[in-house]
Formats: sequence, C-alpha cells, structure tokens
Amino acid sequence: MRSILIENLTPGMLLSAEVTTGEHEVKLLDRGTRLTSAYINKIKNWGISSLCVGNGKERIGKRAIEIKRTRVDFLKNYTETMNRVIEAFRYIQKFKEVPILELRELAEHKIILLAETIGAIDYLYEMQRHSEHTFQHSLNVAIITGVLGKWCNYQGKELKNLILAGLLHDIGKLAISLAILDKPGKLTCEEFEAIKRHSGEGYQLVQGLEQVPNSVKLGILQHHERLDGSGYPAGLHGDEIHHDAKIIAIADIYEAMTSDRVYRRRVTPFEALDTIANQMFSGLEPEICLTFLNNVRDSLIGSNVVLSTGQIAQIIAFNIRHKYGTKPIVCMHNGKMVDLQKDEIHIVEVN
Ligand SMILES: [Fe+2]
Repeated sequence: MRSILIENLTPGMLLSAEVTTGEHEVKLLDRGTRLTSAYINKIKNWGISSLCVGNGKERIGKRAIEIKRTRVDFLKNYTETMNRVIEAFRYIQKFKEVPILELRELAEHKIILLAETIGAIDYLYEMQRHSEHTFQHSLNVAIITGVLGKWCNYQGKELKNLILAGLLHDIGKLAISLAILDKPGKLTCEEFEAIKRHSGEGYQLVQGLEQVPNSVKLGILQHHERLDGSGYPAGLHGDEIHHDAKIIAIADIYEAMTSDRVYRRRVTPFEALDTIANQMFSGLEPEICLTFLNNVRDSLIGSNVVLSTGQIAQIIAFNIRHKYGTKPIVCMHNGKMVDLQKDEIHIVEVN
C-alpha cells in the first residue's frame, strides 16, 4: 500500500482504503474499488489531495486521506463572503450600479474555494436563513453552480465566469420589494410580471460593462429560459439557451427548494432532486440534470434521515434499476433494508 498524489492516479489502480469525507465519515468510495477515469475525476472534485492505492495484493490498511478543507473552514469563509455579498448587493440597491471588481474578486478567490470544499452542498443545507433571501440565495446558487460546473468539467476562467454568473443571476430582484418577494399568498398578475422582469433587468445592469463576459450576461438573462420554450423572458428553445444558463437553472431550482422562505418550509434534497428529474426531458438539459442527480445522490449516501413514520434510518444506496430514481434504499434501526422507491414511506428530514 502506498500514498499517492491525486495527479499521479491512473485508471486501474486499486483503492487500499476507503475514501471518506473528514468529519462525518461519509463513505465516498469503498476500499478495493478499481479506479476508472470517472472515479479519478470525482476524487479531484472532492478536493482530496492524496490517497492510498496498491496493486490489490497488499493487505487493506487504514484510510489515509488528506482533506483540503473542513466544515469549520467552510463556515468561516462562507460567513465572511456572505458579509461582502450583502455589502455589494446593498450598493447595487442604492446606486443601481454593479461593483463588478469586488464581485469578480469574490467569485474568483472566495466562492471558488467554497465550491471546491467537499460536502459544500450538504453544508449549505445546514445554514440559517438570512432575512433578505436574495442575498443568501445568490451566494448559495453561485456555490452550487460552481460545484455543478466542476462536475461538468468546467475549469479555470470558464469556471470562474460561471460562478460569477451564478452570483449575479438574480441581481434584477434587488429592486423588487420584499412585500412581493416574500408574499405568502398567490401573487397578482402585476406582481408576477414584476418578478418575471428580473432576469431582463439584471441583464441591463451588466449589459454595458466591458469587464463582464458575454457568458455571464447570458447566464443572468437566460436562467429562467427552458428547453421546451416554456421559460422567460424570450421563450427560447434548446440550444438557443447558453449552457451556463442551463447549469444555473438547475442550481437555482435546487437551492430555492431546499431553503426556508418566510412563507414556506424547505423540502428535502430528495424532493428537490425529484422536481429536477421530472423536468429533465422538458425544461432542463438532461445531461446536466443527470450529472447533478448522480453526484448529489452519491453525496447523500451515508446520511441519517428521518422517515415519515418518525423512524431514523441511514441511506445505504440508490437502486441502480431506477436510473432517475431519487428515493434511496435505507437501513432501519433494526438493520432491515427498505427500498423507498417501492415503499409508501418517505424521507421528511436529512440530518
Ligand atoms: Fe431568477
């Protein structure tokens, strides 16, 4: 058994120890797994710098992985970044101008680190809500967009621009009153139209800025467009929509559904994944959806959940026969396995 840097991994090597996340000890890969290119890419995305491999003949030893960043680092960096996002967004509200240098700096040097943290999406689920949810939603979407972008093999400048687009995607909402954004009941037609104008108004705020790449401008303008033409503002179809906007659309849905609002409780990641899976062949890009589904499902394995019966269980796996399934197989307290895909029981909370 030997410790090897991630950049030196090659397909065919065997893992001599299981790969887990640091704090929660969530298993990511089993010991004895034979590495493929896909696994190596995943390990890179998880931010692991080295791990133990062998030729399969050695005795399996204890895990030896280094985790780059921890939950504590994540929370500290998140809070610092959140404060700077709030300041920048309040500036936009007041002066109707985008402090683009500050926001680029945040996207390229702070948010990218948050997106590279193992378990970033899980950590976001633990966060308390900020009273003005557009601030927090924007930062969270930027992080999720970054994570998903990496899963879609974005890197370098392309990834940084994608994260910036995620951060700015809803700046058009900063001019809308909280009375409308947080309205608990049904919106009037005028209120709904005011909300629908936010992507175009956000685009106008950055349209004349040379420092904002075109992909970012289109990410803002098109993040509510849908492949089947049902979106807004232009009712674009398929490839008329920029790829970055398609990524943001998925991050946006997932974040909005898994976050509490003044007027409603959040849903579990499983319900949010279900919504995304249901739109996979109509409004959302199937390939990006599948990448998101597969990776988020993998990250949920090992989590403890509360079931609709009140029982606590642990997620063991997802049934491979249900390619788009979002309901896992869980292990109950008494050791019994239950496939929730086939059962009436559902998950009500993830711990
Ligand atoms: Fe939006």
